[in-house]
Amino acid sequence: MGRITIAIDGHSSTGKSTVARQLAHKLGYIYVDSGAMYRAVTYFALQNGLVDHDGLNEAGLVARLDEISLNFGMTDEAGKSPIILNGENVESAIRTLEVSEWVSPVATLSEVRKKMVQQQHQLGGEGGIVMDGRDIGTVVFPQADLKIFMTASAQVRAQRRYDELLARGDQISYSEVLENVTERDRIDSTREVSPLKQADDAVLIDNSEMTLEDQFQLVLKLALQKI
Ligand code: C5P
Repeated sequence: MGRITIAIDGHSSTGKSTVARQLAHKLGYIYVDSGAMYRAVTYFALQNGLVDHDGLNEAGLVARLDEISLNFGMTDEAGKSPIILNGENVESAIRTLEVSEWVSPVATLSEVRKKMVQQQHQLGGEGGIVMDGRDIGTVVFPQADLKIFMTASAQVRAQRRYDELLARGDQISYSEVLENVTERDRIDSTREVSPLKQADDAVLIDNSEMTLEDQFQLVLKLALQKI
């Protein structure tokens, strides 16, 4: 069939990006972390005083969307390409708990989503792409050749994210991370525009009890069946 389009959606911190990146690397495809794009917009809002004690200044952010330029940098050996916001590599800066706390409110804004989806279409128009996110199989590429929906128990997901943040040296508690993961899922699944939901034709993978290698082998098998 040639170079196909693969959409991997699912709940927060299910390890979608790791598996998506490995799969893209194996197939020689582009990998796009769409969550990084929403995180970079959120980082822009935080850096530009658009979040304060009153919360997110939605109109202020929407008015400044034209000032936001997003790109992905050179892919390294592990298949990772950092996100670049207005010329600055923000790959690490967008992974903080502060960004995680504001990203779901930012991602409810239809103007933000419109801008992200336009760019996602440009990146993926030719096939040969693995993109992960929340609305890739439902909205961005409804015709994707393979759709996967990943989930796991909230406790398992929070523990994995907590371990990652601890390894970076962030000062946080497990309960804060658990709350963030469940709150993001709640906002993502109940928002009006492009809510997180499993596409009818997506393959559901619950990876609570699966190793990374098991997940990789499973998605690779599913992809090869389509190619
Ligand atoms: O994938 P990640 O957890 O980094 O995504 C961060 C947030 O970005 C999600 O919780 C969600 O609010 C938003 N997002 C989205 N649509 C996507 C990807 C991410 O709304 N396609």
